[in-house]
Amino acid sequence: MTTHAPLVQLTNVSKTFIDGEQQHSVLDKISLTLDQKIGQTVALMGASGSGKSTLLNVIAGFEKHDSNQDPVTAPKPPKSTLTLLGQNTINWQDKHWSLFRQQSLGVIFQQFNLLTPLNVKDNIAFPLRLNHQNWNSWCEHLSHSLGLSSLLERHVNSLSGGQQQRVAIARALAHKPPLILADEPTGNLDQAASLEVMQLLCTLAGEHNTAILMVTHSIECANFMQQRWHIKEGKIHE
Ligand SMILES: Nc1ncnc2c1ncn2[C@@H]1O[C@H](COP(=O)(O)OP(=O)(O)OP(=O)(O)O)[C@@H](O)[C@H]1O
Ligand SMILES: [Mg+2]
Repeated sequence: MTTHAPLVQLTNVSKTFIDGEQQHSVLDKISLTLDQKIGQTVALMGASGSGKSTLLNVIAGFEKHDSNQDPVTAPKPPKSTLTLLGQNTINWQDKHWSLFRQQSLGVIFQQFNLLTPLNVKDNIAFPLRLNHQNWNSWCEHLSHSLGLSSLLERHVNSLSGGQQQRVAIARALAHKPPLILADEPTGNLDQAASLEVMQLLCTLAGEHNTAILMVTHSIECANFMQQRWHIKEGKIHE
């Protein structure tokens, strides 16, 4: 039997924001694993401000988790590690993070973060370009499934919120990454469009073993994922 490293592994990962003299602990020694081999799909739920986006940002490397190098306040801190694709990220420089995001990660942000000078098609194709690939039949399928086929030449800043959200989803899936981090991906969509997006995500996870960690406030959307995790007071409850 061959062993394999988990796609994402956090061990005792904490995140504290410092605001003036105040410290605000958002993630408190979180340990979790996301496995690609089984296409693990997880809905992350919790109250506003509980740290859902922060957790996604830490996994994507947009926020650095607390270092465990503070011998004064914690003489023997537990070892804290973030491992991605079996590699400890502790020494990753910007170029490692960029490569990881480019090749292995699709992110759907809470604010869509589209490339506003570009049209819909170029936004969707952006991750492919970074990987020296071109628009392909999967992109056609994504655009069709998300109702974007007739909007491909439109500039993204001329679209409605729901349309922009669908472009953001297509862009995150275009390069079929092994990991998708999605922050309320259906927050601006009506029920029919939400269902379509959930089905697309489940198809991707089923056919390509894509692992998905998806923040949602919707029980209906959460039920599409295999597992539901709840975050409260800095801890994850499975
Ligand atoms: N860059 C930052 N600097 C200081 N505090 C921050 C920063 N980012 C997040 N926080 C704080 O961390 C806490 C968690 O924020 P986060 O955005 O992760 O919540 P959330 O669970 O995603 O909430 P929502 O459901 O409203 O999106 C909040 O109290 C927030 O104010
Ligand atoms: Mg959030």
